[in-house]
Amino acid sequence: MSTNITSVLKESRVFAPSEAFTQQANVSAEERERLVAWADKDPDGFWAAQAESLHWFKKWNKVLDWSNPPFAKWFVGGTINASDNCIDRHLTNGRKNKAAIIWEGEPGDTRTLTYQQLHREVCKFANALKTLGVAKGDRVTIYMPLTPEAAIAMLACARIGAVHSVIFGGFSAEAVADRNNDAQAKVVITADAGWRRGKIVPLKENVDAALAKSPSVTTCVVFNRCNHPVTMKDGRDVWWHDVMAKASADCPAEQLDSEHPLFILYTSGSTGKPKGVLHTTGGYMLGASLTHKWIFDIKDDDVYWCTADVGWITGHTYTVYGPLANGSTILMYEGAPNHPAEDRFWDLIEKYRVSILYTAPTAIRAFIKWGNQHVEKHDLTSLRLLGSVGEPINPEAWMWYHEVIGGGRCPIVDTWWQTETGSILITPLPGAIPTKPGSATKPMPGIAAEVVDKDGKPVPANAGGFLVVKRPWPSMMRTIYNDDQRFKDTYWSNYPGVYFTADGARQDDDGYIWVMGRVDDVLNVSGHRLSTMEVESALVNHPKVAEAAVVGRPDDLKGEAICCFVTLKQGNDPTDDLKAALKAHVAKEIGALARPDEVKFTDTLPKTRSGKIMRRLLRDIAANRVGTGDTTTLEDYGVLAKLRADEE
Ligand code: WT7
Repeated sequence: MSTNITSVLKESRVFAPSEAFTQQANVSAEERERLVAWADKDPDGFWAAQAESLHWFKKWNKVLDWSNPPFAKWFVGGTINASDNCIDRHLTNGRKNKAAIIWEGEPGDTRTLTYQQLHREVCKFANALKTLGVAKGDRVTIYMPLTPEAAIAMLACARIGAVHSVIFGGFSAEAVADRNNDAQAKVVITADAGWRRGKIVPLKENVDAALAKSPSVTTCVVFNRCNHPVTMKDGRDVWWHDVMAKASADCPAEQLDSEHPLFILYTSGSTGKPKGVLHTTGGYMLGASLTHKWIFDIKDDDVYWCTADVGWITGHTYTVYGPLANGSTILMYEGAPNHPAEDRFWDLIEKYRVSILYTAPTAIRAFIKWGNQHVEKHDLTSLRLLGSVGEPINPEAWMWYHEVIGGGRCPIVDTWWQTETGSILITPLPGAIPTKPGSATKPMPGIAAEVVDKDGKPVPANAGGFLVVKRPWPSMMRTIYNDDQRFKDTYWSNYPGVYFTADGARQDDDGYIWVMGRVDDVLNVSGHRLSTMEVESALVNHPKVAEAAVVGRPDDLKGEAICCFVTLKQGNDPTDDLKAALKAHVAKEIGALARPDEVKFTDTLPKTRSGKIMRRLLRDIAANRVGTGDTTTLEDYGVLAKLRADEE
């Protein structure tokens, strides 16, 4: 954090929501202004009023206790249950027979659960967990394919006050063992296997290997998803269907303290062991439900599809807790976007008349690479709102999403947040604010996000700085599980009393925030700190480029030289002429300062399992170094070997 960051992205297109959208929006422009002003003047009063939308067994007596920062307590003295808010409320408000979950497996099998049916399954599984010895406060690992049972397991834990720790099914046995041990999990819930790109992912086999190194785990519950042969260990392993057959469907939701832990979710730090981000019940449920209602403009007849797996925070907040708290119908799809063909998403949207789609830039860039013909085969007129999350979205990817998927008619909500923030903090409210491609626009009402310099002072318009949040908010993480010190050091030590996001950003003349990515993803070229994302965006707006990753390579002259890894759209040849053309293109787009020193063509880029480009690994390759960092979150190990071989 030495100098500030120079922003070079020039993007001036503005898209106002249509009159038709604005007319029916949950939050209007005037209402948004009113909410922002109210929350700034009286944050506690604002949050208290919003929290009335949840069902509380007992009301709180204090909205926020910030007497021991950074350890916040929200809705002190209140009692509440997340499972009750996601299900029971809807049994008496007219939604009993509404579809809660419409699910499609990768092979094409389908199931629909109404709120009534979901209630029954969750109650039964909650009782099954009790029979297996799970008590309030115990930790339960969930390592499942994206099936309704994954959500049922989460909600059953929440119902009895057990703390779930969901681990994405793409993670290894090693990762499962580490997380079991850190959380001291008592039970693991898994499946025989799941489907991914037509192949079996052997989840139970991974769990067997993990449990050999997880002494705290006494029981493993196995859901039969694929009829894949598994070994069941006597006295430890039980079948989901067996425990369900014996379980009663009567299980009143436990009345839990507002600050009772709801879940732990592990997120990788750039160094060191994964961090167990802890979220609690009342504040998290408020963040999840309120943002979902306002940002996705949710209506009772929407079919809402968040494509994230429940192994990520997006799947927690916007596949399960937020939408179910609002009584929405969610679509859940188990498998890959290109199985059996590259049009699977568009097929699903057409088939289920999906009206709201929430996905990630990495997926959007893959769709662009695969070509528009896969989209054009399908009727996507049911869509009315699109969302993006996970990374800065390159303006050209935004434009493609807007035009090709949204037919030019759907507002796009580019939502900035983190595992740690629990819910979306910076975003358009779609009927209330014009959008600009690549900007997450403005903070949610109630969120005191700002861009500051290294001393914590606000930076002038258009200057780059560090994104921070100056006031606590209800869905903020409470600590790193078992590591209060690391929580303080990581997020609260740069600026006292202020949450440090570790992202770089700038605000434009209209106050719009442009997130530039992690501050460790910056280049220092001849003394200028440039965001790698901005150079990538310039590359991606070249018509032949599908995806780009930009890293610095140590350079005696400039400090860092700009090294670009580029994948091309189908049908383009990786020629030297094209390399030269791309260098010239970047120089033209953002200035000679950013002219790439090197362009390398590649078929794929190294990514985490959540789709983020691992620039750290590319930095090693660019510098011709042997990497020493953690690669356990890498999606495809083959990519690295291939990139290194290309280097020779
Ligand atoms: C980091 C958090 C929270 C959902 C999924 C990722 C980056 C996320 C955006 C966005 C620019 C974004 C940030 C952030 N990020 N959304 N709309 N624009 N950057 O969760 O794995 O905890 O990652 O993702 O760098 O800090 P996560």
